[in-house]
Amino acid sequence: GSGYDAWLGAPPASGDARRQARAWMEFLHAPEPAAPIAAALAELRAAAIGLTGREPQPGLPPEDGRGIVLGTPAGCAEAADAADGLPDDPAGESYRLVERGGLLVVAGSGPAGVLYGAFHLRRLLRSGAPLAGLDVAERPANALRMVNQWDNADGSVERGYAGRSIFYLDGEFVPDRTRIRDYARLLASAGINGLSINNVNVHARETRFIGEEDLPSVAAVAGILRGWGISLYLSVNYAAPVEGGGLDTADPLDEGVRSWWREAADRIYRHIPDFGGFLVKADSEFRPGPFTYGRDHADGANMLADALAPHGGRIIWRCFVYDCRQDWRDRGTDRARAAYDHFKPLDGRFKDNVFLQVKNGPMDFQVREPVSPLIGAVPRTNLLVEFQIAQEYTGQQRHLCYLVPQWKEALDFDTRLKGEGSTVKRIASGELHGRPAGGLAAVSNIGDDANWTGHLLAQANLYGFGRLAWQPELSAEQIAREWAELTLGDRPQAADVVCGMLARSWSIYESYTAPLGVGWMVKPNHHYGPDVDGYEYSMWGTYHFADRDGIGVDRSSASGTGYAAQYAEPVARLYESPETTPDELLLFFHHVPYTHRLRSGKTVIQHIYDSRFEGAERAQGLLADWESLRGHVPEPAYSETLERFRHQAEHAREWRDVLNTYFWRKSGIPDERGRRIY
Ligand code: GCU
Repeated sequence: GSGYDAWLGAPPASGDARRQARAWMEFLHAPEPAAPIAAALAELRAAAIGLTGREPQPGLPPEDGRGIVLGTPAGCAEAADAADGLPDDPAGESYRLVERGGLLVVAGSGPAGVLYGAFHLRRLLRSGAPLAGLDVAERPANALRMVNQWDNADGSVERGYAGRSIFYLDGEFVPDRTRIRDYARLLASAGINGLSINNVNVHARETRFIGEEDLPSVAAVAGILRGWGISLYLSVNYAAPVEGGGLDTADPLDEGVRSWWREAADRIYRHIPDFGGFLVKADSEFRPGPFTYGRDHADGANMLADALAPHGGRIIWRCFVYDCRQDWRDRGTDRARAAYDHFKPLDGRFKDNVFLQVKNGPMDFQVREPVSPLIGAVPRTNLLVEFQIAQEYTGQQRHLCYLVPQWKEALDFDTRLKGEGSTVKRIASGELHGRPAGGLAAVSNIGDDANWTGHLLAQANLYGFGRLAWQPELSAEQIAREWAELTLGDRPQAADVVCGMLARSWSIYESYTAPLGVGWMVKPNHHYGPDVDGYEYSMWGTYHFADRDGIGVDRSSASGTGYAAQYAEPVARLYESPETTPDELLLFFHHVPYTHRLRSGKTVIQHIYDSRFEGAERAQGLLADWESLRGHVPEPAYSETLERFRHQAEHAREWRDVLNTYFWRKSGIPDERGRRIY
């Protein structure tokens, strides 16, 4: 009841599920020994025991019996027979599940494909779906499906809301790696195939991870991940050659620096032959980078790319580069422009094994942002779209905020870069611009809390990210339902109620926090709780410009920062005018009077009041919904989550009152409905 098994536990199953399992799971066979196939076999075996109470027999079933066989065409005759409908996939991750004459074949184009197929079959088994006549085939839409840990060697987790790191303790790798294994299993079951294991902010201790002393520990973790089809990546310190590396420069064009990184790469691959590559945060928020040496980001990324290329490694280079020492008096600088302004001119210069990792929005994982205009604007460059599963600005896993709908909206957004249908998901996968590979990355939301994510329901975000990265066509509702049924089992009431709560949670969170896309209004540093002017006079470039007459940031070309023009037409035109900008983004793009009428018909000020009041009420409704599940969700999960909903309801009222009071005092315009404002 703690939530540790998450969506891979054995909650009560329906009669249908047990019947299907009894019919099909008496025999279980996998002729190939490769690690991910062994894991697939173990998963199905455990599922069989959970559903039938019986241990399946090894080997193929007798002539007219039924059973399951797993394998690849290369090593399993039944999989070879099923190969006709198995999607081509050079990465070996595709699979086909097909029933033929009583034999259920899980055929993978490679060992990882078998594992993904087994997890798919496990979902079907748990749902009780009939298996006779089954024939489904899948291939991931994205080649890279990555999670980024922001874990530090001291055991802390940057923006971690679920306890301490499961990877490190007091400056060392944890001796007991059970949780790493269990985490890898969760990730693989959701479709993740890459994991960077340390924070993008690399401190002195983690800078040494690429040294001879730590590589055996890194390799041990890589070995665990490999068993689940996951490649290990490291965040590296761009200045490593100077910070403990014995050189006096980290200039990417310096021959000594180049050979320093080549040697580092050779060393890493001696320990980890299938090492994924480096994740790099350079020249960003006080991190070192090529700018120090008068070089640009193509020089920096390519130098590292050259070092890893002989081994097949990748450089994932983050585009979160902006001036974080801005003078708030300087109205000419717009942080939202930064990623595009820095990277667009470099298109075409990056090596084939470089991927630019671009945050979904131009600012920083706010509850509402437009899609980053850099996404799609570098057609000759590989790209990953970055999301944040960790709820830094979306309630820190104390408030419920199911983020899959937010990510879906970004992925479905039509940039119009190559005409209609130029969606973010087609750019991310590489398809739109004919790139060889692409994908999605996201900041993890887990820690050593018993249920991984602090808030039990925040598990749905981790699961959902993996599922979306695998297949962005899945709907947010489908993913919520899968997660809820797998996690809460055959308690239809619980799954239904929880799906409803997940579905409305983002809109609820948005409606009591910063309004109409303007962002922030949080307490500085830890970013939790309302503080309307918390960042207004800071150096971070995150302003709302509220005065007695109005609010918002003018990012139009006509009178503002010109950010709107970074989009392709007709999107640029849409955002250029307050009349055509969608309400939810109005204050992101325009400074308007409080009396400005939204497309909804309400004035801005009345919208602020109404939605704060409604938001707080709807947060109270989430609590009531959860209370209706007493007895339907096991303890201690029920009570722990109840506490969080109580806090959310209370904290939503705090948000409501701080924001309403602030804007009432600023504007002097009363609430039309005369509700209590302080
Ligand atoms: C946010 C976050 C930082 C993080 C940064 C990043 O600004 O608050 O903690 O380091 O994003 O993405 O690099």
